[in-house]
Amino acid sequence: MSTPGTSNSAVDSSRNELPPTKVAVVTGSNRGIGLAIVEGLCQRSYGHVYLTSRDKNRGLEAVNDLKILRLNPRFHVLDVKDNASVITFSEFIKEEHGGIDLLVNNAAEYYPEDSEVDEKFQTENLVFTNYFGTLSMCEAFTPLLRQNGRIINIICGIGHLLSIPTTKIRKKFRRYRLNVEELNELMYTYLSDFEAPYKENIWGKSAYAVSKVGIGALTIVYQRKFNIEMPEKNFSINSVHPGYCCTAKGEYVGSQSIEEGAEVPLYLALENHGLKGKFLWHTKEVVNWFHGPVPDL
Ligand SMILES: NC(=O)c1ccc[n+]([C@@H]2O[C@H](COP(=O)([O-])OP(=O)(O)OC[C@H]3O[C@@H](n4cnc5c(N)ncnc54)[C@H](OP(=O)(O)O)[C@@H]3O)[C@@H](O)[C@H]2O)c1
Repeated sequence: MSTPGTSNSAVDSSRNELPPTKVAVVTGSNRGIGLAIVEGLCQRSYGHVYLTSRDKNRGLEAVNDLKILRLNPRFHVLDVKDNASVITFSEFIKEEHGGIDLLVNNAAEYYPEDSEVDEKFQTENLVFTNYFGTLSMCEAFTPLLRQNGRIINIICGIGHLLSIPTTKIRKKFRRYRLNVEELNELMYTYLSDFEAPYKENIWGKSAYAVSKVGIGALTIVYQRKFNIEMPEKNFSINSVHPGYCCTAKGEYVGSQSIEEGAEVPLYLALENHGLKGKFLWHTKEVVNWFHGPVPDL
């Protein structure tokens, strides 16, 4: 029995326990906006920040560039389109840290209008990388999210539901209580409509837009799942249009820098905003994803 006034070791150790160092993962962060998000998190001493890349050399080069600025991100290979790669990384994070606090789904494919890549290949690559890659990350990392964990999905202005021209398909995306399985089915329907002569009238011209609309819907589906199944965890998931930036994706002509593109994602990652399941514009304006109005791009 402990003498009154002397320490009880169990009580003392819990008093001395520090919260674990925060852990952030940013996908596709060897360049562009993802790299600027990693840089911003490191500058603000977020904790362990993972710069990830599907290519080891490109990733390590980016890490070295940040080290020159006296920033110290960690690195791991990650191809979001490859489920084995996603699982390997999530198991590594579980082993190394036990959990994560922040996931930024930034990685994406994009093809300029004059691309000579086969159109069917483009369509499938866009949907499997952008939509299903984001879904794989959410599925693998949600079980690792710690209390107050946040997920940020980088979409695009044309990831707004109004990019889909037909009311019938828009209704399917905004169906009350849409679930992940139904959303996946909708994305597969888009892929199977590839040969259909009416495809553009129904889905619009851009497979990139459809892949991002899928992520916009996924954001809402996941937030509802969090609210219903684990409200005590206080998880949030939001999507953001970062604005048009000077990157490969902006075809190097965007009006914003990558640091400007990273501003709203960093706001969502770091500030006490209380936003859940929302779609933010690069101006921080919260846009109604279902009905608009859509601000100027
Ligand atoms: N830039 C814009 O104007 C703009 C506008 C609206 C939305 N966005 C969105 O903002 C995000 C960042 O765009 P960005 O302009 O910075 O693009 P970016 O410079 O083209 O960078 C895209 C990143 O995603 C990575 N990536 C592609 N496929 C991947 C995969 N399967 N697994 C892992 N990583 C993969 C790329 O890796 P590699 O280096 O290996 O190719 C690269 O690191 C994207 O989600 C994009 O759709 C950008």
